[in-house]
Amino acid sequence: MVNVAQVPQRSPFRYPGGKTWLVPHIRRWFHSLPKKPFLFIEPFAGGGIISLTVAFEALADRVLMVELDRSIAAVWQTILSDDNDDLADRIRSFHVTRESVQAEIDKTPQDTKDLAFQTILRNRTLHGGILAPGSGILKYGENGKGIKSRWYPETLSHRIQNIKLVRDKIIFARGDGIDTIKQYAIRKSAVFFIDPPYTAAGKRAGTRLYTHSELDHEELFKQCARIKGDFLMTYDNASVLASMAHRHRFKTRTVRMQNTHHVTMRELLIGKDLTWIP
Ligand SMILES: C[S@@+](CC[C@H](N)C(=O)[O-])C[C@H]1O[C@@H](n2cnc3c(N)ncnc32)[C@H](O)[C@@H]1O
Repeated sequence: MVNVAQVPQRSPFRYPGGKTWLVPHIRRWFHSLPKKPFLFIEPFAGGGIISLTVAFEALADRVLMVELDRSIAAVWQTILSDDNDDLADRIRSFHVTRESVQAEIDKTPQDTKDLAFQTILRNRTLHGGILAPGSGILKYGENGKGIKSRWYPETLSHRIQNIKLVRDKIIFARGDGIDTIKQYAIRKSAVFFIDPPYTAAGKRAGTRLYTHSELDHEELFKQCARIKGDFLMTYDNASVLASMAHRHRFKTRTVRMQNTHHVTMRELLIGKDLTWIP
């Protein structure tokens, strides 16, 4: 099983359902392709660790990240703009206390840069890093460090400024993931990593975790079937999804992973050809 400590942490987000653990599989997948893809697309980008890995490790020439959530979009837009240093400086100089965090997240953001800062602050100081509205401020945090337990200003600022190194390769668009697949599916030189929000029946985690958690999975599969290049899709290991995948003649495999509570689980991978999985 993957040791996440060996994967470079490049994203400023602490993301529910983050796919850092999948990075070694992603590398293997890219190396199995007949040639280096021109375009890599992540239609449900979230914390964006896979897009960043593809850009930094030059696994594709260009990267397109798409995300619907306005707050998350603001972070990527700011990081990839000339406001990158301002965001990093603001994180470095913000003094975290329960009062200062509360005051900051109660403010109405004035612009994209403001919303980006607020989003990172919420992501790093609210319970479980949850980004959906209504999450409470961390009381005890990890190791009793309270609200500061996940606030590492130097590390976060460094990750943000480091992204400038690959900024020319990355395009971010706020929009709908399924529409993006529809638009780019016929490009032979495009490959997609698809990690959609998923709420299993009777399991409400997805609803709590993201502001946008409803998705037409049948339509998503339909659009994936039109992809001329390649794709890799990942889901919770639910039999209904494996059946849906088989109905569309996709291949499925399960791989072991450890969730954030260090419980070993299996995750479902779906694609055209998964023979590269050991
Ligand atoms: C499972 S998460 C992706 C996590 C990401 N792979 C990572 O490692 O951080 C799914 C993301 O899709 C976003 N999302 C939900 N509906 C969407 C849609 N229709 N189009 C684009 N993004 C959407 C959610 O806001 C969430 O950030």
